[in-house]
Amino acid sequence: MELRLPAPHEEPEFRRVVAAIPADHPTFLHFHRADMSLAEYLDVLRKQALDIDTAPDSEVPSTFLFAFVDGRIVGRASIRHSLDHPLGLMTGHIGYAVLPEFRGRGHATDILRLALRHAHAQLGIPHVLVTCDPGNLASIRVIEKNDGVFEDERLDAATGMRKRRYWIDVLPYDG
Ligand SMILES: CC(C)(COP(=O)(O)OP(=O)(O)OC[C@H]1O[C@@H](n2cnc3c(N)ncnc32)[C@H](O)[C@@H]1OP(=O)(O)O)[C@@H](O)C(=O)NCCC(=O)NCCS
Repeated sequence: MELRLPAPHEEPEFRRVVAAIPADHPTFLHFHRADMSLAEYLDVLRKQALDIDTAPDSEVPSTFLFAFVDGRIVGRASIRHSLDHPLGLMTGHIGYAVLPEFRGRGHATDILRLALRHAHAQLGIPHVLVTCDPGNLASIRVIEKNDGVFEDERLDAATGMRKRRYWIDVLPYDG
C-alpha cells in the first residue's frame, strides 16, 4: 500500500472513487465538490495542507492522502497537523476510511500504520491522538492493532456523541 495523491493520468481511478462514495461516509473526500476536476481538487488539498485559502469548514491545516493498492484507490487518510482547535481533543489527528468494496482485508489497519509514519516523519507529530465512536468496533480494532493506548471516553458536547480516545507513540521508521 502507498499513501499518496493521484497522478494526472489516474483521473479515471479518482472518478471511480467519486462515483463510489459510500452512503455511510459522505465526507469520504474532504473539501471536494462534484464539479471539481482532479487538478482543481489537488490544488484545494495542497492549499489545505499549507493553510492557504482554507475551506470555511476546516479547523486547522490538514494533509489528505489516498491509499493505493495495485493502482486502485481503496481508501484514504486525513491528518490534522495539530489539535489546536475547539474540537481537537475529540476529532484527534488522524481519520481514515475504506471504500465498502475493499473492507475486511486489513486495509484500514495499513492506512493508519502508514498515516502514523507520515505524521511523524513529514509533519513532526510523534504523539498521535486517534478517536472513534464507541460503536465502531472495526475502527476500535484498527486502533488497537496500531498499538493505541486507550485514554478515556468523552461526551462531545458539540455533537452529543461519545468518543473513545487513544494515544499512539510513533517510533522512528528506518525502513
Ligand atoms: C472502519 C473501517 C475504516 C474499517 O476498514 P477495514 O479495511 O474493513 O478494516 P480492517 O480490514 O483493517 O479490519 C479491522 C479489524 O476490525 C475487525 N472488524 C471489522 N468489522 C467488524 C465488526 N463489525 N465488528 C467487530 N470487528 C470488526 C476486523 O475483523 C479486523 O480485525 P482483525 O484483524 O483482528 O480480524 C471501515 O469500515 C470504514 O471505512 N468505515 C467508515 C468510515 C469510518 O468509520 N472510519 C473510521 C473513523 S474513526
